[in-house]
Amino acid sequence: MSTEPYGEEVPLPHAVRKGPPRRYPETGVFYRALDREFPMIVRGEGCWLIDDTGKRYLDACGGAYVANLGHGVSEVADAVAEQIRKVAYVNGTAFTNEPAELLAAELRTLSPKGLDFAYFLSSGSEAVEAALKLARQYWVESGKPGKHKIIARTPGYHGNTLLALSASAREQYKKMFGPWLVPVTMIPAPYPYRCAPDAPAMTAEALEAAILKEGAGSVAAFIAEPVGGSSTGASVPPKDYFRKVREICDRHEVLFIADEVLSGSGRTGKWTAIEHFGVTPDIMTLGKGLSGGYVPLSAVLATKKVLDPIANGSAAFKHAQTFSHSPAICAAGLAAVRHIKKNNLVARSAEMGAVLHKKLTALLELPNVGDARGLGLLAGIEFVADKKTKAPFPRALKFAETFIAKAQDAGLIVWPNTGHADGENGDLVMVAPPFTISEAEIDEIVARFTTAHHAALEACHVRR
Ligand SMILES: Cc1ncc(COP(=O)(O)O)c(C=O)c1O
Repeated sequence: MSTEPYGEEVPLPHAVRKGPPRRYPETGVFYRALDREFPMIVRGEGCWLIDDTGKRYLDACGGAYVANLGHGVSEVADAVAEQIRKVAYVNGTAFTNEPAELLAAELRTLSPKGLDFAYFLSSGSEAVEAALKLARQYWVESGKPGKHKIIARTPGYHGNTLLALSASAREQYKKMFGPWLVPVTMIPAPYPYRCAPDAPAMTAEALEAAILKEGAGSVAAFIAEPVGGSSTGASVPPKDYFRKVREICDRHEVLFIADEVLSGSGRTGKWTAIEHFGVTPDIMTLGKGLSGGYVPLSAVLATKKVLDPIANGSAAFKHAQTFSHSPAICAAGLAAVRHIKKNNLVARSAEMGAVLHKKLTALLELPNVGDARGLGLLAGIEFVADKKTKAPFPRALKFAETFIAKAQDAGLIVWPNTGHADGENGDLVMVAPPFTISEAEIDEIVARFTTAHHAALEACHVRR
């Protein structure tokens, strides 16, 4: 086909994946890693991805906790196509649109009571940036401009743009950009596998101590993942942790931001993970699975209390992004949320989550598997050098990376994390499959995990 005046369409080079790793492929893609080959995925069906050689991969983490509905849901594809045919884009400064209105209304009914207003963006990092800026603007417009500090947790992750990265405890991402990051006060995250039950990290006392140390008059917001994502490997805080957080934040006039980019949208067996703890944050972020991955979509939800000083003050949130509130992305979110509701997929996440956790206990019998934990269809499996002392493997062994490679060979896609044990060492992998996963597919995860584990131990020369 001719694309005059610029000439012929460039075909996909036949040899794009053949031969040794290609740092510079013929097509010009700047890959996420420059030291290995990537299989070419051509199709997705439910929990499975299929590459151009016909190999099938069990997508046991929905990519990066994204494919909550499973792959290939034509209902969502049709809704997006229909909206794009009507109108794909209007600018949020001039117009509103039906999908944005309807999606906000759906999220209002699903979210913890009071989180009534939704601001749509495209990625989790953008939502976190916007949430933190919203907290700051709230205090400035409330006449308390001294409140600007952010408190976050370590381990913890909130994204890779510079403010979100500043609030994250990921040294491997932060080191290079240190001079550009802003100071954020870190408190220890609750991590039941590695914390005593009465540790300040577990009781939320660490938060109050940090607020008092910084001076409540200078603290704008506390941001936390209600159930740990990759950073603490699906660690679930004690039952009363967030009730205490809420009380502390209220006592010291600090906004509580729940980052539900990963844990929200049904992942833990309720629409949001914070619901397990029975409190309402002031601001909440959603992303990843909100659209099921059909388009990049995220949201910042806020209470009327947070909007009020802005509505009565400058009357505009000082955060402008071209694609905010776009009809095309909101149409995907709306179709995904309605698909989840129609098929009771949040209840299914809870139900199949219980099956998953029961079956994952078999992995505890494997050498060097120290813990398997989580909530709903979110699970973390932590590897250790010594099960008794919980000592991690030395980072130089690159166990998580080796495991991921062996899992991919075995047709299993899981998500790795490193550094959680002490900031540098620690290896774990995450399992977070689409909510449509069957019991037989969970058995397949366990079987392929076991194969990958033995292969990784052998490749890393770990003595058993
Ligand atoms: C809890 C949490 N917040 C924010 C983000 C950033 O989202 P994104 O990668 O879409 O920018 C992530 C990504 O993993 C996350 O897990």
